[in-house]
Amino acid sequence: MSQEAKAVALDQELKKAFETCFGGASRIFRAPGRVNLIGEHTDYNQGFVLPAAIGFDVAVAYGPTETFELKVHSLQEGDSAALDLSEALPQPRGDWTDYIRGVELQFQRLKYSVKGANLLVDGGVPIGGGLSSSAALEVAVAFSLLDLMDARMGPVDVAKLCQRAENEFVGAHCGIMDQYSSVFGRAGHALLLDCRTLDIRYVPIPKNVSLVICNTMVRHAIGSSKYNERRSECEECVRYFADRIDGVSALRDITQGDLDEYGGGLSPTLLRRARHVVSENARVLHAAEALQNNDLSTVGRLMQASHVSLRDDYEVSCPELNIMVDLACRIPGLHGARMTGGGFGGCTINLVESDSIDLFKSLIAKQYKQATNIDPEVYVTSASDGAGIANHGLERSWNENEPAPLL
Ligand code: GLA
Repeated sequence: MSQEAKAVALDQELKKAFETCFGGASRIFRAPGRVNLIGEHTDYNQGFVLPAAIGFDVAVAYGPTETFELKVHSLQEGDSAALDLSEALPQPRGDWTDYIRGVELQFQRLKYSVKGANLLVDGGVPIGGGLSSSAALEVAVAFSLLDLMDARMGPVDVAKLCQRAENEFVGAHCGIMDQYSSVFGRAGHALLLDCRTLDIRYVPIPKNVSLVICNTMVRHAIGSSKYNERRSECEECVRYFADRIDGVSALRDITQGDLDEYGGGLSPTLLRRARHVVSENARVLHAAEALQNNDLSTVGRLMQASHVSLRDDYEVSCPELNIMVDLACRIPGLHGARMTGGGFGGCTINLVESDSIDLFKSLIAKQYKQATNIDPEVYVTSASDGAGIANHGLERSWNENEPAPLL
């Protein structure tokens, strides 16, 4: 079956499920998850990232109603809720519905009049795996609500709105990388995103390599509190450097030379945090150039260095991620492996020669199980179109607002 035929079949299935769940016809909007090739914990430091949208998405089927509520049901969670649109100060419920509520509230704040609807959510992005299932849900909901309201919003604003939903309502102080990837992803390409200017340069991923994602199947509970702690540590570093160097407003502005000159005055922990961000930004730019030039051994080397920096300097890895990366490095056909996403569990990203995929998959699964007694999941994927182009019913008009290429 062709890709298009598969997509049509999936949509038909979801429309049927919608009919069973709520009755009536529906329209479907999809948004992909993402995997980050390199550039971790740099987005909220106004630095550089190199993610790609992936072939797993979250789909929302919606149908308008005459009520003033959003009735939502998730096929994955097997859970339903009714979100009253007239509620003055809704509080987060601490579950998947918060992403929907958060997006809806942002529209209301901008004086869009959200109408009543039934929403069926079908998620194909592994939840809690660090592949941005939450950003994918937010973006799919945002495009659905825009369609429901017959309203328009530029894609940059959609991504920013979804990030605000997560920051302000869900309470996760994430950067812009995930939502941007989900909106602006492009098939066969990684996005070199400058998180300060939001300029994008699309970098082709060579056809002879595949993106292989290995899910450690663990998610350590400290993850979200440590994420916010890392953000505050970076802010503390910025205050320190801003007192000593003119024009510093983010760690993005710090160079290796600045670290050498002034870093000694920071606590050892803060120095390591700053060192990760400064070195990671440089690695992203270097890796984007190497990828563009098809120099996969350099990309791989930079991915390894990124993992070591996240493990030792930024301290956001965990034993399972380290084992998964160490094992991958010994398998023939691997160019590079590292943890991807926020850390403390979740997935690794592996750049693997396409003709070594089967060997890689079977060896990594077997050896990880032997080492940890956990069965991992291994996904082979490729860079996909983001919701900005892939969504049904949307013209390609978002291209008008597309940020200018960096080069
Ligand atoms: C999470 C956040 C992103 C980014 C990564 C780490 O995925 O949502 O904004 O900070 O962690 O790179």
